[in-house]
Amino acid sequence: MANMVLATLVQGTGAHPASWLRTGSTVDASLDIDFYIDAARICEQGKFDLFFIADTPGVRTDNLQAWSKYPFYTNVYEPLTLLSAIAGATKQIGLGGTVSTSFFEPYNVARMFVSLDHLSHGRAAWNVVTSADDYAARNFGLDRLPPHDQRYERAKEFVHVVKQLWDSWEDDAFVHDRASGLYFDPAKMHVVDHQGKHFSVNGALNIARAPQGHPVIIQAGASDAGKEFAAETAEIVFASDVTFDKAKLFYDDLKGRLPKYGRAAGDLKILAGMAPVVGATAEEAEAKFQDLQRLIHPDVARMRVGRDLEVDLSGLPMDEPIPLELIPEKANFHQAYFNQIVAMIRSGMTLREISLEYERGIATVRGTPQQIADHMEEWFAGGVCDGFMFIFYTMPGLLRDFVEMVVPELQRRGLVQIDYSGDTMRERLGLSRPAHPHAAPAAGRAAVPALATSD
Ligand SMILES: Cc1cc2nc3c(=O)[nH]c(=O)nc-3n(C[C@H](O)[C@H](O)[C@H](O)COP(=O)(O)O)c2cc1C
Repeated sequence: MANMVLATLVQGTGAHPASWLRTGSTVDASLDIDFYIDAARICEQGKFDLFFIADTPGVRTDNLQAWSKYPFYTNVYEPLTLLSAIAGATKQIGLGGTVSTSFFEPYNVARMFVSLDHLSHGRAAWNVVTSADDYAARNFGLDRLPPHDQRYERAKEFVHVVKQLWDSWEDDAFVHDRASGLYFDPAKMHVVDHQGKHFSVNGALNIARAPQGHPVIIQAGASDAGKEFAAETAEIVFASDVTFDKAKLFYDDLKGRLPKYGRAAGDLKILAGMAPVVGATAEEAEAKFQDLQRLIHPDVARMRVGRDLEVDLSGLPMDEPIPLELIPEKANFHQAYFNQIVAMIRSGMTLREISLEYERGIATVRGTPQQIADHMEEWFAGGVCDGFMFIFYTMPGLLRDFVEMVVPELQRRGLVQIDYSGDTMRERLGLSRPAHPHAAPAAGRAAVPALATSD
């Protein structure tokens, strides 16, 4: 059996809404490059496969009363700029960043990720998102985000064009032959000519093919459109179910969609979300978590639930249930998160209870190193995931605890790698390198099949 894939999403002082309030936290961590580099190096000590930076290109401009108490994706670096700096300070860990298909053009994105792949020697990964907030939309000439399915339709064409651009050059196109004076072989340049519903591109990328052939593609859609898109294009998926049974359904559903696109189960790694809180004893771990939970301000609690429910909850009493008539008919942003909250409201929980128990696609697992390793082993061996996407509620504290206490236990059980192998992120993950469509037939199948029409 392949090793578990270990990935982590990193943001400032930690992923908990109150992490920055702890005494002694590095309050300006979100713009401290040394802080990120230290974190990435700790991840490399733990032989993590992926260091991931999430993003949305915008910031909230209303409800500042609550927002100003919760620095979630506020005062952050643009991901690829940050990852480029981290590339120079690390050697083996994969470097993933989010770029939205709703607000960019394929040419920019194709170019950015090939650049990162070259300067990291084959460690770049693109998290393809369709974005989920109107604050970002308003920065790009739109009043609101287009509807969910339209965003996925655009995303599908977007990725198709990006992959074609990634094949603008064959792997050995740049011959740099002083004797003949030939810098590149013109026969190995392939101009993209795409005229589609959303994009029109006629040209070639101005950078050589990526060391990985194509940077690795990540996706995290949980809706039907999202899963279909992932089945067609993604190589890593961040899953967002917090119970074993639901995660199993998601895993089987998504893997079951792969054959339709000529893909095998091993071509896609599904990572379960998890927030590990480790302690020397179960009580110590629980106390670490509750100390953070106690620090959440009620305004922030209302805002976090309201954001994913897509309703303004400011002013609602914390110790009463959210009125059923406030539930919108359907979600336009994150369907999986929305469904989780709606289920909690329908079960009669109060706003305070929901705010403390709602897990944004990530299960909090607290306990001793053995208990956390047991949980991970159960999910992995139970065919629910190929690995884990962690968030750490405090940084670098809980990350370091995990690397020092849980990773050795996982290594002892033979579940994770003891050291890195292979030259690129793809090789380390056991993902095949896309052959160039014009390369000699022996090199493998074409990297970019024709754009399937949406059904
Ligand atoms: C671990 C993880 C990381 C994510 N990172 C981002 C991100 O950086 N930017 C973003 O707009 N959405 C992000 N998402 C949200 C997903 O892209 C997706 O919108 C969400 O899971 C809802 O699925 P749907 O779009 O199919 O409805 C992330 C989701 C997960 C589980």
